[in-house]
Amino acid sequence: MNRVIDLRSDTVTRPSPGMRDAMHRAEVGDDLMREDPTVRALEEASAEAMGKEDGLFVPSGTMANVVALLTHCQRGDEALAGSESHILHHEGMGAVVLGGLFVRSVQNDALGRIDPVEVQARLRPAWPRTAVVCLENTQNRCGGAAIPASDMRAVADVAHAAGAQVHVDGARIFNAAISLETDVRTLVVSADTVGFCFSKGLGAPVGSVLTGSREFIERAWFNRRLLGGSMRQSGVLAAAALWALEHNVERLAEDHANARRLAAAVAEMPHVEMDPAGTDSNLVFFTLNGVDGNDFRARLRDEGVLCSGTAPERIRMACHLDVTAQDIDAAIDKIARVLEAMPAAS
Ligand SMILES: Cc1ncc(COP(=O)(O)O)c(C=O)c1O
Repeated sequence: MNRVIDLRSDTVTRPSPGMRDAMHRAEVGDDLMREDPTVRALEEASAEAMGKEDGLFVPSGTMANVVALLTHCQRGDEALAGSESHILHHEGMGAVVLGGLFVRSVQNDALGRIDPVEVQARLRPAWPRTAVVCLENTQNRCGGAAIPASDMRAVADVAHAAGAQVHVDGARIFNAAISLETDVRTLVVSADTVGFCFSKGLGAPVGSVLTGSREFIERAWFNRRLLGGSMRQSGVLAAAALWALEHNVERLAEDHANARRLAAAVAEMPHVEMDPAGTDSNLVFFTLNGVDGNDFRARLRDEGVLCSGTAPERIRMACHLDVTAQDIDAAIDKIARVLEAMPAAS
């Protein structure tokens, strides 16, 4: 049986032997009683990495965003988020449903940025009050675009001037920092809160940390409880995340190199529309023209290559630590073979 090359997401990675060993050895306690030393170590290390005062371990990136919005906003408040953001498209509007708040959208451009002038026009001082502006980095649906610190700062400045806070959905913030060749703290310095995931490119099985001021995290602690996100001997999970922080950050550059090579090759293939220069990080997006997207995915799956996408013809391939450079070579050959054999869409 040929090896399956799973490019659907960077969430499909399995914990490595070193990570499993760290989980096995983890010192644990009841985290709801604030007695798990490994969770506490992870929260402190995460806060330090982001240059914030404190952190809160949560089960998922979605919960990091929902807790952040519930903590930033009162009922009746407004949040602003990019039109292509994960918060708007993929979180079931949890913060809206649970928090009695409203999320308004601001257009993301092709490079994933939002325009500070447009943000300024939407900010409202009262009734409804815009409590928080959300940025995403990397910007998943915009090709995994890495948003430079200067663009984040420009939006943060107008938000802060109007009395609003800034939250960064940094599910893949280390990918952004590595792509931009900048320190992650510098990248998020203008943000009040940052959530980031261990379960994506960093290769841990579960978990995200929300970081911010000590006062904010204390209030967030109650919202995590409200959502049922408080855990008990979660040091077993935190140990995996700590191991990832130590061993799997720098190697994200390998995923980016694989993604660039995949993008450059796919861009030359028939029926593909894409600008390979738009591949900033580990995600490769392209649009199929003149062939059926579902048929393409099925044929590629039969060849042992899995992909995902945001629409039938909009294909996404994610490079990650369980995909080697040789896997990418094999995937390129198979994608080319499938595309050459595809019948024209009727
Ligand atoms: C940008 C972004 N934010 C948040 C999330 C949510 O993370 P989780 O799947 O851990 O809830 C994802 C998941 O892919 C994401 O891509």
